[in-house]
Amino acid sequence: MEKNDYDGITILVTAGPTVEPVDPVRYITNRSSGKMGFEIAKAAKSRGANVILISGPTNIDDPIDIEIIHVNTALEMYNEVMKFKGKVDIFIGAAAVADYRPEIYETNKIKKNDDDLVLKLVRNPDILYEFGKEKGNTFLVGFAAETENLIESAKDKIIKKNLDLIVANDVLREGAGFSGDTNIVSIIDKNMSVKEYPLMSKTDVAHVILDEIKNLFIR
Ligand code: PMT
Repeated sequence: MEKNDYDGITILVTAGPTVEPVDPVRYITNRSSGKMGFEIAKAAKSRGANVILISGPTNIDDPIDIEIIHVNTALEMYNEVMKFKGKVDIFIGAAAVADYRPEIYETNKIKKNDDDLVLKLVRNPDILYEFGKEKGNTFLVGFAAETENLIESAKDKIIKKNLDLIVANDVLREGAGFSGDTNIVSIIDKNMSVKEYPLMSKTDVAHVILDEIKNLFIR
């Protein structure tokens, strides 16, 4: 890793979960702490990049010197990300975006009674997919969080979402995935070449991802 090897490069990073409200006191969400995305943002900043971080709710303090946009829902994250279409060199989607939201937001707390409650969920937009449809010169990096068929599913996502690179993590593996300070990743490029990495801190994983992007994108 060279200091300032990302000088003059603008990187958009998404991090954390999205939360999808059911009523004023309840919501559905994903299990992301935001650590992986924040580490990528910080690593990129330390290497000279201009970084914009769009994050769902986390318990992490805002990094100093990084522009951060806070969102709650997937629709909010989608709207903020789309403002940067055509304006960033690299987009790294590390957020765990909720694929579904309740169809109806009840403005008052839903009262319980003796019956079961059925919640209808509707699809949220796929942010990476929508960005990838007309990505122009932006280098697009996704994550794949899987519990089975990790590499095959990640390869499918490269094609479906028009990605240049994907970082695959099996979130059931000890030391990998959500919440902890470590991760175990495989990085796959759009030629389907797979590199597997051992357990590393999320800081080191962030730098490895930036090294891989540099090899393919910045020469
Ligand atoms: O935040 P941590 O606790 O540190 O955990 C890190 C992590 C496990 C969240 C991270 O390493 C990770 O895997 N992030 C992606 C989680 C995810 O939602 O993966 P996915 O396989 O469901 O989605 C694939 C890709 O599409 C992701 O880049 C995701 O950001 C993106 N996506 C998904 C759904 C959606 N509606 N829009 C999207 O853009």
